[in-house]
Amino acid sequence: MTTSEGLGFSPLLAADRVRSCAYSPSLIAQRPEITTARLAMYLHGPEHARLLRDHVVRNGAHLARWSPAYPDDYLTEVYWKIRGDKNVEDAADGKAFRFAIAWRDQPKDPVLGMIALTEIARGPQQHANLGYGLDERDQGKGIMVEAVRALCTWAFDELLLHRITANYMPTNERSAKVLRRCGFSVVGYARDYLFINGAWRDHVLTALTDPQERAPGPGCGPG
Ligand SMILES: CC(C)(COP(=O)(O)OP(=O)(O)OC[C@H]1O[C@@H](n2cnc3c(N)ncnc32)[C@H](O)[C@@H]1OP(=O)(O)O)[C@@H](O)C(=O)NCCC(=O)NCCS
Repeated sequence: MTTSEGLGFSPLLAADRVRSCAYSPSLIAQRPEITTARLAMYLHGPEHARLLRDHVVRNGAHLARWSPAYPDDYLTEVYWKIRGDKNVEDAADGKAFRFAIAWRDQPKDPVLGMIALTEIARGPQQHANLGYGLDERDQGKGIMVEAVRALCTWAFDELLLHRITANYMPTNERSAKVLRRCGFSVVGYARDYLFINGAWRDHVLTALTDPQERAPGPGCGPG
């Protein structure tokens, strides 16, 4: 399927576009991959452990400033293998979708960044929370705007979500601009919202809703 924005999705995904709250397992069997003009975003599994490990080793200090505390083994390949298994499992359960970002014309190496939809809630809510991080050396090229736009379109069209939230610390001007450019609106301000980089940090809360305002399909009763 190709949208007017030139996003490419795996063809079988389109075949699974059933208007239902139940997540289609065949969507996951293929490991969703979302492509844009410049990028390929793939659901990473255990086989990508080295690539992810290399990315976080390269960007430890850069990302730590905006991230929860890392587990002790975060910089090891073993951690990313286990996390890859969990990632595939979570996606199969429809709980979360975590993608690695790479250049479209390069074979997944290096990983430019990560982007994820987590805390997926079905029922009448149809919601997910968005998170992302980019390699320090690849900032300023509009990569995350391209990735966020593509992922949100995919989430609305393929996962049939209705609302995506994303939250940033007031000092994170880059992230604020990414979200604004992608159409997110500020919906609130939460004091001491997340424990990040050693302290409870205030966050600006933002959200984007499906521009098509589709109603949930059959089976979308209480979540
Ligand atoms: C936030 C992040 C993903 C931005 O991605 P990016 O692809 O580099 O985004 P860009 O460089 O295109 O910058 C986005 C905007 O910030 C602006 N910007 C760039 N450097 C800036 C700076 N030092 N201060 C303020 N704004 C800045 C850009 O001009 C652009 O604004 P525009 O949309 O008006 O042109 C990336 O910086 C990152 O990974 N940061 C660390 C992790 C993180 O913050 N994750 C999000 C937590 S909420």
